[in-house]
Amino acid sequence: MRNALIFNPHVASLPPYNAGMNIAVARQAAGRDDIARLASNENPEGCSPAVMKALASPEFQPSRYADPACAALRAALGRRLGLADAEIVAGNGSEELIAAVARAFLVPGDRVATVVPSFGLHEIEPLAAGAGVVKVPMTPAFGFDLDALEQAIAAAPRIVFLSSPWNPVGPALDGPALTRLLRAVRPGTLFVLDEAYFEFADPGSVDALALLRASPVPHVVLRTFSKAYGLAGLRVGYALCSDAEIARVVAAAKTPFNVNAAAQIAAVAALDDEAWMKASVERLRRERIRTAAALARLGLRVAESQTNFLFFEARGDSAELAAALLRRGIIVKAWREPGYERFVRATIGTPGDNDCLIAALGELARR
Ligand SMILES: Cc1ncc(COP(=O)(O)O)c(C=O)c1O
Repeated sequence: MRNALIFNPHVASLPPYNAGMNIAVARQAAGRDDIARLASNENPEGCSPAVMKALASPEFQPSRYADPACAALRAALGRRLGLADAEIVAGNGSEELIAAVARAFLVPGDRVATVVPSFGLHEIEPLAAGAGVVKVPMTPAFGFDLDALEQAIAAAPRIVFLSSPWNPVGPALDGPALTRLLRAVRPGTLFVLDEAYFEFADPGSVDALALLRASPVPHVVLRTFSKAYGLAGLRVGYALCSDAEIARVVAAAKTPFNVNAAAQIAAVAALDDEAWMKASVERLRRERIRTAAALARLGLRVAESQTNFLFFEARGDSAELAAALLRRGIIVKAWREPGYERFVRATIGTPGDNDCLIAALGELARR
């Protein structure tokens, strides 16, 4: 009977998503309970106390379906960003919105352009929709290859997916670079700028949303509450669309009750306490600068970062380094995209986590 089943071939052949190791698995593998979780770019400081307070209030009713339109959250975001509510779509994490954008725009045979190394879903979701994906490699100096990207964009793919600041590498597009890429966009292309690490970008860096909105290019900007706001476990992100028609079709491509009640309440409370988020980001930024300097002193080549993680080149295969770190109680992400297997991405954790990482890398370097 089973042999008679026909899978969707685009889905059945997908590469696996390289998720950070689960804590229970890591504890078992390391044989210890104290694990530094540096593989998933979470906020090690947790979230605003206002979130926990809101979740403990009678407003949170687990027995009721949540608002499928996420009206309160979208209105709060609209007020904050000066956008119409109708241009905003909330998602079960921004990952759901990547899937929804792919479902809304792609048909089998379409082409998508992105970068490599890449955030896995920028490739996986287009592949699931039957599209082909063109990946522009980073430069040897860990930068965006603007010439090659300009060419790939000018070839008029159906969608361009770029993250800036760039996961997994770290740098952000500056104003002139973004302007240049936008000028290369041809009619029929949707430009998706994934700003999952937006809040970590250097003070004074380009306002990409304003730049995109001032351009004629149809676009979607993706952001999330998972990183700086510390709500990764609740799953809520949002899409800022250049017009209400794009938002309508992206919303049509999501599941109806996609953002649960706890996530909607938590996201509104988190947004209201921006001061907590900004103070946390500043502490993490200082830790990132300190950790990057320590890794450089160990002789490691580390990419410039405007995020809450560092991307660096291991001396051999990154999986071996990740396994050696795991034995010392540290989970990092070994990059597995072909051609990039020597690279590791490590999230900035608590000062104690970062000290453990620096000490372990130092010990391994001396071997
Ligand atoms: C670039 C980028 N986009 C999207 C996501 C998805 O985040 P979430 O679904 O938690 O909002 C991540 C998570 O790591 C990311 O790094």
